[in-house]
Amino acid sequence: MALPSISVVLTLLLLLQILKTDAKVSSIIVFGDSTVDSGNNNYIPTVLKSNFKPYGRDFDGGRATGRFSNGRVPTDFISEAFGLKTAVPAYLDPAYTIKDFATGVCFASAGTGYDNFTSKVLSVIPLWKELEYYKEYQSRLRDYLGNDKGNEVLGEALYIISIGTNDFLENYYLLPSRSSEYSIEEYQKFLAGIARNFITNIYKLGARKISLTGLPPMGCLPLERTTNLASGGGCIDEYNKVAMDFNQQLQALVETLNKELSGLRLVFVNPYTTLYDIIQNPHSFGFEHSAIACCGTGRFEMSYLCGEDSGLSCSDANQYVFWDLSTLQRKQTAY
Ligand SMILES: *[C@@H]1O[C@H](CO)[C@@H](O)[C@H](O)[C@H]1NC(C)=O
Repeated sequence: MALPSISVVLTLLLLLQILKTDAKVSSIIVFGDSTVDSGNNNYIPTVLKSNFKPYGRDFDGGRATGRFSNGRVPTDFISEAFGLKTAVPAYLDPAYTIKDFATGVCFASAGTGYDNFTSKVLSVIPLWKELEYYKEYQSRLRDYLGNDKGNEVLGEALYIISIGTNDFLENYYLLPSRSSEYSIEEYQKFLAGIARNFITNIYKLGARKISLTGLPPMGCLPLERTTNLASGGGCIDEYNKVAMDFNQQLQALVETLNKELSGLRLVFVNPYTTLYDIIQNPHSFGFEHSAIACCGTGRFEMSYLCGEDSGLSCSDANQYVFWDLSTLQRKQTAY
């Protein structure tokens, strides 16, 4: 028997929080990284892509859309749960028009972070640029729907932000630049300051319902376990502790901003504990494997390496908590 995938669990968690606010949701507007990118990286010059097999093999029609997943990403499930589209289109995808984007749009870019420097590591879209695209989108939407209707849609939309892991794993702990400049505590404050500005900016532009996702137990991603093989391949405790600390700061930020910005309904979604439990006890949740990923051998592959090793990938992604080294598998339930 297949249990709901993690994305569904997290989706439900989020929905419960949103539904408490009894809000009408007209559209889903997404900012962030590979956890929610629905294909923007296909249209920029980066090596961090996933528009080839085995990515997308469980997606509608088996299409590799540029989602870092075998199927859909969490925001697609959320969109569907609100009675909107079953998949949120990527803003840079020329196959879609403003008519499609009127009920949901994704500005996310795999590999990006709060920190500008993180986006430079793999030449992906920096968060400030996601915001620029959003401003352009606003004016296109107002042209399309008229000012009043456009503003109404923008004000009733659910804004989802899912970002942050890459700042630590692809940047701070991997490269000397930020780690020589900031202590880990200082770096967290620096990132939280960017999060604060970003949320304030979209609030000023009209966003009122915003969901901010915290960090997963990032020391348990297969990517990190592979680097820890010499000591048994367990989770890296230091990274998990940083994730918990940072989530606390984001939680505090959310409380502050809800007080400061009138009419704002900002919710913090903390995926840490749920995911940690699933990773530690995969069998209790219907999974077989949580230390290695499905794609390739599960220890070294993501993006192009997943594509090259497609013959090695697991046959049933539902048995795995992780799809590739840093992204969760997402079960395809609704097509
Ligand atoms: C990131 O870069 C943008 C564009 O150059 C700039 O406006 C912004 O201030 C930078 N953010 C930080 C925190 O340095």
